[in-house]
Amino acid sequence: MPQPHLAIATCAQPALYSQEPDDALLQAALHQEGINTDLVPWDDPTYDWSRPDLVLLRSTWDYPTRPAAFLEWVEGVSQVTTLCNPAELVRWNLQKTYLLDLHLRGVPTIPTVWLPAQSPVSLTSLMHAHNWSQVVIKPVIGTSSREAHVVSAQTVETGQRHLSRLLEREAVMVQPFLPAFYAAGERALIFINGVFTHAMRKRFTLMEGLDQAGQQSIPVSEEEQAFAREVLSRLPRVPLYARVDLVRDHRHTLVLNELEIIEPVLYLSHAHEALGRLTEEVSRRTRQAQQRQVTQTEPLHQHVRQGQRMQEAPPLVVDGVGGSSVSLLSRR
Ligand SMILES: Nc1ncnc2c1ncn2[C@@H]1O[C@H](COP(=O)(O)OP(=O)(O)O)[C@@H](O)[C@H]1O
Ligand SMILES: [Mg+2]
Repeated sequence: MPQPHLAIATCAQPALYSQEPDDALLQAALHQEGINTDLVPWDDPTYDWSRPDLVLLRSTWDYPTRPAAFLEWVEGVSQVTTLCNPAELVRWNLQKTYLLDLHLRGVPTIPTVWLPAQSPVSLTSLMHAHNWSQVVIKPVIGTSSREAHVVSAQTVETGQRHLSRLLEREAVMVQPFLPAFYAAGERALIFINGVFTHAMRKRFTLMEGLDQAGQQSIPVSEEEQAFAREVLSRLPRVPLYARVDLVRDHRHTLVLNELEIIEPVLYLSHAHEALGRLTEEVSRRTRQAQQRQVTQTEPLHQHVRQGQRMQEAPPLVVDGVGGSSVSLLSRR
C-alpha cells in the first residue's frame, strides 16, 4: 500500500502566510507519522486535488476577497476526496451571519446590525438609534481583521466613507465597540476533535497603543470552557478543529465573537499536546480515507451523513431605523 497522502490547503500570499508556523509544524509532525504531506495554496491551478487521500483546510486566509471561487473549490474538492472540516460546515461558517443562527439557538453574541450590500445607510443615524457612541464596522466575510474599522462620534465622517465604500460590493456588520477586546482581551479557545486543548489571549490591533498585554497563552475558567462547549454543541457534528473566540460585553457577560471552523490559527507552537492530538487525529483520518479509497466499499463521503444539514441562517429581517434600511437582529 502506498504512503497515506495528505494535502494541507494554504494561501499563496506571502505577506499573509509568513506570519504563521502552524502548517510547517503540522507537516513535520505528520511526516514523522509516515503521512506524505503537501502544503499547497488552495488556488494553485497545477495541483491535482483528487490525489491526496484527505485535504485539510488550514491557512486559506485570502478567500474573503474571492468567496465564490473559494466555495466552488471547496465543493469541487469534496467531490473528489475527503475534506476536513467538511464542506457543509465551511459553507455555513463562511459568512458571519452564522452568528445570527447561533444567537437564535441561545448563544449570547454581540449586538449586531446586519447590512446587506448596496443598502443606503447613515452611520450617524444608526449609532444614534442604538445609542452606540463607538462602533466597529467589519465585512460579513472576513479574516485577519480585514477592513475592520473603529468609528466614534469624532471619526464618523471617515467611518461613513469606509462603510459606504464597503457596502458598494459586500455585506457589512456594525457592532458596539467593546473595550474588553483590548482590556481583558479576546480569548481564543482551541478544540481538537471536540476536546479543549488550550487557550490564547488575542492581541487587539484595531487601534494602536491600547493593548498593553498582547498575545499570550492563558488559562481559562471553567465558565469560559463550558460556554465554548455549549457553542460547539450547536453544530450537527464534531469538527476536527475549531476555535471559539470569546469576549465580555459592557455588562461583563461572556459573548461569542467568532466560531472559526474554516481557517483558524491554532497556535500550535504554544501547545505541544494540541499539536500531538491534531497530528494523531489527522493521521488516523488520512489512513482511514486511504483505506476507503482502496476498498471502495462505501461512497467517499459516507462520513457526511445526509439529512443532517445545518440549518441555514434565517433570512434577514429588515427593520427601518433612522430612515435607512438596516436590520437589527442580534439585540438581546
Ligand atoms: N465589537 C467589537 N469591539 C471592539 N473590537 C472588535 C469588535 N469586533 C471586532 N473587534 C476587533 O477586530 C478584530 C477582528 O474582528 P473579528 O470579528 O474577530 O473578525 P476576523 O477575525 O474574522 O477579521 C477582533 O479580533 C477585535 O480585535
Ligand atoms: Mg477574529
